[in-house]
Amino acid sequence: MNFEIEGNSALITASSRGLGKAAARSLVLEGVNVVVNGRNEENLTKTVEELNNLSGGRVIGQAGDITKKEDIAKLVEVAYQEFGRLDHLVTSAGGPPDLLFEETSDQDWYESFDLLVMSVVRLVRESLKYLREGEGGTIVNITSISVKEAIPGLVLSNSVRMSVIGLMKTLARELGPEIRVNAILQSAHETDRITNLIESGLAGDKFSSYQEGLDFYAEDVPLKRIGQPEELGDLAAFLSSPRSSYLTGAAIPLDGGSSRSNL
Ligand SMILES: NC(=O)c1ccc[n+]([C@@H]2O[C@H](COP(=O)([O-])OP(=O)(O)OC[C@H]3O[C@@H](n4cnc5c(N)ncnc54)[C@H](OP(=O)(O)O)[C@@H]3O)[C@@H](O)[C@H]2O)c1
Repeated sequence: MNFEIEGNSALITASSRGLGKAAARSLVLEGVNVVVNGRNEENLTKTVEELNNLSGGRVIGQAGDITKKEDIAKLVEVAYQEFGRLDHLVTSAGGPPDLLFEETSDQDWYESFDLLVMSVVRLVRESLKYLREGEGGTIVNITSISVKEAIPGLVLSNSVRMSVIGLMKTLARELGPEIRVNAILQSAHETDRITNLIESGLAGDKFSSYQEGLDFYAEDVPLKRIGQPEELGDLAAFLSSPRSSYLTGAAIPLDGGSSRSNL
């Protein structure tokens, strides 16, 4: 399938590693010019080099912290100035801390809100005028399956990410038909986040091998494995392309069938 987005330009936040990087990879392979982002310059430089070695769109890196208003304004400006257009915004973020309710402070709640919600609010606000300029502007929010089914021990993710879905649904109405807005609700995918969890399980004798750790996270998944980041990247590229032209306001689970809710 040709995604028909060659020559377009995309900004992808929190993309020096993990799921954001996978989204960048899929868009680059479709010939999209991409701005990738993260706070650590060294990781970012490595990712830019790696993605520029693929045959496809051009990639530049812009370091910045998406909890900072001024860094977001700069990111959007760099994306537009560098490529002369901005067609696609893909939002990812770092994860909030894994905590039980009684372990959280007010500060944890406010910081999670800044990281997960205000980053999207500000990114959309800053990007809108550019997304409206072209034909087929899109926004894709990478969130979590925790908005569909609360995950034990993740009260911040379960609670705060719901706001991103409310925002996404509202934006789909307010910004259509010019701009389409969708969200991805992923379960465990094999990024550094999961690798680190498995490695600490190995160190703490929870697992006897890396594979046992992978199997643990895949236990309740009908497809019997966790997701690969590339699979999420391809969904992000599809949602950014006119091949998904009748999809907006959708929160799409990407979980190997593991969520049990009927809807
Ligand atoms: N992987 C999974 O299985 C999974 C499942 C469900 C939900 N999620 C959620 O999906 C999101 C992405 O997960 P991931 O697996 O891709 O995580 P990851 O592999 O840890 O990558 C996180 C990325 O975000 C960047 N980042 C973190 N905080 C940032 C900030 N304040 N400003 C700019 N960039 C920032 C990191 O770079 P720097 O550290 O250099 O800034 C890195 O590039 C997270 O919210 C996670 O909770 C992941």
